[in-house]
Amino acid sequence: MTETEMTRAVATAGEPALHGTGLTDVRMMLVAHTSFRREIGLAPAAVRAVRDGDRRRAGVVADHVLLFTSLLHHHHTIEDEVLWEPLLERVPDRLAPLVHLMESQHEVVASLLDQVPAATNRWRASAAATDGAELADLLTVLSAALVEHLEAEETRLLPIMARHVTAAEWDHFTELGMSSIPKRMTLVGFGMMLYEGDPDVIALESAKLSAPVRVVLPPLARRSFRRYASRIHGTPSPLPRAGF
Ligand SMILES: [Fe+2]
Repeated sequence: MTETEMTRAVATAGEPALHGTGLTDVRMMLVAHTSFRREIGLAPAAVRAVRDGDRRRAGVVADHVLLFTSLLHHHHTIEDEVLWEPLLERVPDRLAPLVHLMESQHEVVASLLDQVPAATNRWRASAAATDGAELADLLTVLSAALVEHLEAEETRLLPIMARHVTAAEWDHFTELGMSSIPKRMTLVGFGMMLYEGDPDVIALESAKLSAPVRVVLPPLARRSFRRYASRIHGTPSPLPRAGF
C-alpha cells in the first residue's frame, strides 16, 4: 500500500461517510479526480514522447493537454461557486480553514493552468523538442500541485460535504461537470469513468440512463476510451494506478 493509499484508508476508516443514510453521496468526486490525476499525471510523458519536429503528433497531444487542463479549470470553478461558498456559510467554524486551504490550493493550480495554453500552442506551432520539454516541465509541476490538492480535498473536505451539501446541490454540481465535456468526447468521457471509477458509483450514475442506453453504452464507451488512450498514451490501458 502506498503512502497515499494509506492516508486515504486511514481517513476513510475514521470518517467513512461519503455516502449512506442521511448523507449526500459525493463519491462521484473521486471518479472525476481519478481521471484528472491520471491524465494530468501522464501528460508530461505524452508530450516528451513526441519526436522533435512532428507537428501532426504534437497537434494531437496538444489537443489532449488543452482538453484536460480546461476540464480541470472548469472543475475548480464550479467547486468554488457551487459547493464551497454555500458550505462556508452553512458550517463556517469547521470549514473556514479547510475552504481557505482549498481556495489557496486552487489559486496555485490556477496560476499554473494559466500558463498552459501559451506553452501548449507554442509547442504545437513549432513541434520543437525544447518547447515540448518546457511544456512537459510545466505539466509536471501542475501534476504535483494537483495531487497535493486533490488529496487534501478528498480526505478532509469531502466527508464534510457529504453531510452538508444537499442532494440537489450535488446533482447540480455533477451536471455542470458533465456538461463541460465536449459532445464529441461524451463516449470517451463515459469510458474513462468505467475504466477506473468505483463500480458502485458508476452503477448509480448509469441508473439515470434509460434501460436501452444503459445496455448499449458501456461497451461503446469502453472501446472509445481504449482507442483514445492508445492514440494519446500508446496503450489502451494507461495506468500506473499506484503513485498517482
Ligand atoms: Fe474536486
